[in-house]
Amino acid sequence: MKQYVLVTGTGRPMALGFNFVLRYLEQGADVIATVRKPSEGLNELQKQYPDTLHILEMDVGSTSSVKAAYEKAKDMVPCLDTIINNAVTTSPDTNKELEEFNLDDIPAVINVDAVGPLRVVKEFMPLMKKSPIPALIVNISSEAGSIGKCYRSYYLDYGMAKAGMNMSTKTLHNKFKDDPMMNIICVHPGWMHTNEGNAKAPFEPYDHAETMRLMFETKRTDKDGPIFVTWAGEEYPW
Ligand SMILES: NC(=O)c1ccc[n+]([C@@H]2O[C@H](COP(=O)([O-])OP(=O)(O)OC[C@H]3O[C@@H](n4cnc5c(N)ncnc54)[C@H](OP(=O)(O)O)[C@@H]3O)[C@@H](O)[C@H]2O)c1
Repeated sequence: MKQYVLVTGTGRPMALGFNFVLRYLEQGADVIATVRKPSEGLNELQKQYPDTLHILEMDVGSTSSVKAAYEKAKDMVPCLDTIINNAVTTSPDTNKELEEFNLDDIPAVINVDAVGPLRVVKEFMPLMKKSPIPALIVNISSEAGSIGKCYRSYYLDYGMAKAGMNMSTKTLHNKFKDDPMMNIICVHPGWMHTNEGNAKAPFEPYDHAETMRLMFETKRTDKDGPIFVTWAGEEYPW
């Protein structure tokens, strides 16, 4: 069956979001790729997939932007069976400890990384409700959002934001528990070679996006399994 997928934060060809878009397109899916500003990489990709790649500007940190994007998305696809909340931001002080950290930068990070996915789910729910197969929401989290595994004394912004995203995933999982047509998970994707600085990372985003795309299908109707999982679908501690 043809799939209809939305991925946020997709403008960078080396990064994970773009590679999710590519992998779903390769499978014949219609993909809404959201960006906060035009992306040359996506414009190039659209030449290969003129009918199935839909590029949509959307800033997940802004409710009005997400609402406006939904109005356009309704004319792009008949439904959505998969939403991947992938977009992320961090503050300039993310690698600093408390004494050096400008704490006033943290709310903006939480707004994008933790509230952003909720905005997307809230506004795009009507399209998910039209899906003939159970809809799956995937929140791309991180081991940095695990309180149980936390070992760093930096990442104050990113860690709090991803822990918040994890909490909202569990909360929505409770909401959907009796709805066989809706499921949600959050995923620690592992360390990926998403920029030049990550050259030592073990995972290439193109390969890794496909590993996760296949894993997501094992979770679509799994309401009883773990909710916070690794790229391989194994339980990760909250
Ligand atoms: N890379 C890793 O090793 C790693 C490890 C663990 C978890 N993760 C998670 O995996 C996901 C992808 O990581 P990545 O390294 O591929 O990310 P990335 O290269 O930092 O890309 C993030 C994307 O999010 C977009 N974005 C930022 N703020 C936005 C906003 N307000 N609205 C919409 N889009 C926005 C960026 O847009 P612009 O291009 O316009 O800036 C960018 O395209 C993230 O959720 C990250 O936390 C990554």
